[in-house]
Amino acid sequence: MGKFNLVVTILSLLAISQAVRHGLDIPKGPYCSKVGCCDSRQDECSAPLLDTLCYCDEFCDRDVSEDCCPDFWTVCRHELPPPPDPAPIKTCHHDGNYYLKGKEVKFNCNICKCEEVNGRMEMLCDQNECIINTDIMSSVNQLSYGWTASNHSEFWGRTLNDGIRLRLGTFEPHRFVLNMNPVKKIYSLDSIPKTFDADDVWPGKITRVQDQGWCGSSWAISTAAVASDRFAIISRGLEEPHLSAQHLLSCNNRGQQSCNGGYLDKAWMFLKKFGVVNEECLPYTGSTGKCGIPVNGNLLTARCIPPENKYRKDYYRTAPAYRLGNETDIMFEIMKSGPVQATMKVFQDFYMYKGGIYKNTHLGESHRTGYHSVRIVGWGEESTYTGHKKFWKVANSWGHMWGENGYFKIERGINECEIESFVLAAWPRIADKSNNKHRKQNP
Ligand SMILES: *[C@@H]1O[C@H](CO)[C@@H](O)[C@H](O)[C@H]1NC(C)=O
Ligand SMILES: *[C@@H]1O[C@H](CO)[C@@H](O)[C@H](O)[C@H]1NC(C)=O
Repeated sequence: MGKFNLVVTILSLLAISQAVRHGLDIPKGPYCSKVGCCDSRQDECSAPLLDTLCYCDEFCDRDVSEDCCPDFWTVCRHELPPPPDPAPIKTCHHDGNYYLKGKEVKFNCNICKCEEVNGRMEMLCDQNECIINTDIMSSVNQLSYGWTASNHSEFWGRTLNDGIRLRLGTFEPHRFVLNMNPVKKIYSLDSIPKTFDADDVWPGKITRVQDQGWCGSSWAISTAAVASDRFAIISRGLEEPHLSAQHLLSCNNRGQQSCNGGYLDKAWMFLKKFGVVNEECLPYTGSTGKCGIPVNGNLLTARCIPPENKYRKDYYRTAPAYRLGNETDIMFEIMKSGPVQATMKVFQDFYMYKGGIYKNTHLGESHRTGYHSVRIVGWGEESTYTGHKKFWKVANSWGHMWGENGYFKIERGINECEIESFVLAAWPRIADKSNNKHRKQNP
């Protein structure tokens, strides 16, 4: 029995010692810091405990020692204190990569930063919707919508907000403009071919696809391009100006907002009333710029290079714009007089269009849209495994790298994206001999 008791006592003493070593049942506190350690220590802190010299010293020989005497290592152990543990390296894990604390990385259009939040490392990101959305892109390409999507590199890294603000730029027409009656056309439906492409019918006369840059100027670019095409086609080559969209952007200020957008009816009004110079005289810069062209001047006073047509002195003007009411009217108009201008509602998936016949997929979480104006140059039909489809061939103003060499096809006859709702065209005022005589008679 006695032997057994002794064993129990030794075991419990060992247990206490272990507990002390691990600081388990002795609460933390500044035990020795006031009086120093070891040397002729005569205080309650130095009371021997089990096999130690003093309680404090043994207590201090632990990993956690912030509450111990500062001289423990040098006085009691006669050695230097171990170097403090290096702080753990703080990193965030994101998308399969590690980032150091404070590091900023751009993911598409959002900037993310590795930060410490409530003791945890987290990658905090902006929450912008980007123009290019990889989920939409892969859905479009995996399912059969009839068109394909791609990562247009100029749009990568930009917000959808920027896309709407700076890649479109046409204001929705006012109601009174929308109420404008379309012109009535008389023709036989048989006279309209199944396919038509202005580029093939009038080679060299159709304005090339332009790039508006990050400037909401589609209103100016589409107006100038449609007018240019019609000068070349209707004058039968007598006048083939490339009209200056910049002239509209810089000088058509009333009610218009330059790179922040404009109304088409106001742009055509400007072309009717004042006219514009040619591109060489005032090239496109993609920014608002100052209007350096006198409003009531002519090509000479504006110091433009004199055009080849000797009858041309005034700026290039058009007759009032008119509206086309339905699919076949639009086709007949293009066939007879050249490309027309259309307004369309742009959804997020459209920015990623690469080829095929576009139709809005309603993919994506953002339902933000904007209005854009484009130039319809032709039409056609196609039979694919998704069915028989009619389409418009349309020139966009996002450069040659976007879509099908800058063009896109969009379903025809169903007012897709409202593209058949507000279609405009105008007749050019060609400067010729008769025109000049007419002027002299009626100054
Ligand atoms: C998209 O294109 C940009 C620029 O070419 C590239 O940096 C980016 O990684 C591409 N994104 C995807 C998802 O392919
Ligand atoms: C479009 O309107 C014209 C009248 O301007 C009409 O003759 C024609 O049949 C209409 N076409 C369609 C497809 O409704």
